[in-house]
Amino acid sequence: MDKARSQIEPAMELRGPRLLLRTPRPQDYEDVRRMLSDSTTMRYLRYMAKSPGGWSLEEVAERHAIWEKIQLKGEGAYFSVFQNLPTATFVGQCSFNTIDKTHRKARFGIILHHPFWRNGFGLECHDICFRFGFETLGLHRIDAETSEDNRAMCRLYEAVGIRQECLHREDCFDDGRFHNSAVFALLEQEWPAVKARMRALLEPKIRLTASRNGSSTAPP
Ligand SMILES: CC(C)(COP(=O)(O)OP(=O)(O)OC[C@H]1O[C@@H](n2cnc3c(N)ncnc32)[C@H](O)[C@@H]1OP(=O)(O)O)[C@@H](O)C(=O)NCCC(=O)NCCS
Repeated sequence: MDKARSQIEPAMELRGPRLLLRTPRPQDYEDVRRMLSDSTTMRYLRYMAKSPGGWSLEEVAERHAIWEKIQLKGEGAYFSVFQNLPTATFVGQCSFNTIDKTHRKARFGIILHHPFWRNGFGLECHDICFRFGFETLGLHRIDAETSEDNRAMCRLYEAVGIRQECLHREDCFDDGRFHNSAVFALLEQEWPAVKARMRALLEPKIRLTASRNGSSTAPP
């Protein structure tokens, strides 16, 4: 899938009605550090915790240096997420962590900082990235894995009709016990129906944001 490689640039920018997704830059690191060190945001990703005292800026920079190398090879695409209006505010990050060109598949991951939850930003990130994945990169399959206990993530996928494909039993140790992980997957032929459901769910949220900001926005 050389097509995919040619579409993944070292610096990229994707836009939705309310969000700007762009390749992470050093000026994002403090926001990223704060988000990754936040126990509410990272409730289901505690295995990523750095202790004591959370993530340092150096650790964030190391994480991004690894991402940069993967993106240069066309094997991943990483984004910082910003709310465009009224000012560009850091909301979180999302990524295609592994892009497999042979099998035209990728794994998607997302972390949004908790003050921004339940505004439809999770949906909008999926809409933007899955559109890029299926319609620009030509992927055949996108999947995502999360703790079975992560109600927000599981409900989002269920709400738009992305199927849970399997359960990895007790594959994550956290808080003194093993937890199951749920794998959700979407195929290119299922994407149009899921996209329509995402758009339908997003529309009232976009209108609400626009009326709050006194501006009009429409899905691109
Ligand atoms: C999972 C996550 C991305 C959801 O983002 P979000 O912006 O809050 O989600 P949205 O506002 O787009 O929600 C879309 C739909 O998902 C479902 N949903 C989202 N959060 C939910 C929750 N806490 N409980 C139940 N359903 C929820 C709802 O159906 C919601 O639609 P509604 O608000 O109209 O009811 C966000 O909670 C997050 O980043 N969590 C921390 C990191 C994480 O756990 N990442 C995934 C693990 S890899």
